[in-house]
Amino acid sequence: MAQALQGIDVGYALSVRGLCRTYRPPGGVAIEALRGVDLDLAAGSVTALTGPSGSGKSTLLHLLGGMDTPNAGTITADGLELQSLSRSRLVSYRRTVGFVFQHFALLPALTARDNVLLPVLPYKVRYDRGQRAAELLAEVGLAGREGALPSQLSGGQRQRVAIARAMMGTPRLLVADEPTGNLDSATGTEIIDLLLTLRDQRQLTIVLGTHDETLAARCDRVVHLRDGELQTTF
Ligand SMILES: Nc1ncnc2c1ncn2[C@@H]1O[C@H](COP(=O)(O)OP(=O)(O)OP(=O)(O)O)[C@@H](O)[C@H]1O
Ligand SMILES: [Mg+2]
Repeated sequence: MAQALQGIDVGYALSVRGLCRTYRPPGGVAIEALRGVDLDLAAGSVTALTGPSGSGKSTLLHLLGGMDTPNAGTITADGLELQSLSRSRLVSYRRTVGFVFQHFALLPALTARDNVLLPVLPYKVRYDRGQRAAELLAEVGLAGREGALPSQLSGGQRQRVAIARAMMGTPRLLVADEPTGNLDSATGTEIIDLLLTLRDQRQLTIVLGTHDETLAARCDRVVHLRDGELQTTF
């Protein structure tokens, strides 16, 4: 964790044991979204989480990112057990995770640059936020488009902004939920290439949930979920 707080750029090794997550909607029937998942993710690996709709992919991604709490089981990141962390240390952990979503989740009134620097806006940082945002936008292929609004960008370009935003906090884990879900196949391939390049350059650990078989096939490893249980690992 101390390393993470200093922003050292190496992916987490993650270990998941007996992870269970049951949703209990008020007045509704309990849904066992994850039922005892065991999984190890090597530092710097890219893993695709596949499985039918409702199999628990997003649930697992949210838990890995420290955005949700399991009902049972543990997640350890470089030996640090998330469930045993104080609230403030969990917030610190979350700051070491970058998120990318299918629908980009950009703020429409903000420029690409301002969307990218948003995650670190509340924090004191030692670098120039605007400059880092511009550098990241250039890295994802959007040099010169810093001032564009999301509505002025294509789907693939919006996803690039979202990826640059996820990289802003120097994450050690990148979680992507259906990162190519809204894109045509050529644009999706460009996004896969970009994610793999980021991993190669920074040794990030990446986990992505996907229905996209082309994307899954490009990952180091594919993990299949069915009804909240891990089916196959290869
Ligand atoms: N906040 C919630 N409240 C109640 N049930 C939920 C909630 N989030 C997810 N679920 C349920 O948990 C199960 C797993 O959902 P999850 O979103 O993890 O699946 P998924 O594999 O990501 O599906 P998709 O491929 O459609 O994105 C589903 O039955 C879903 O309806
Ligand atoms: Mg999902």
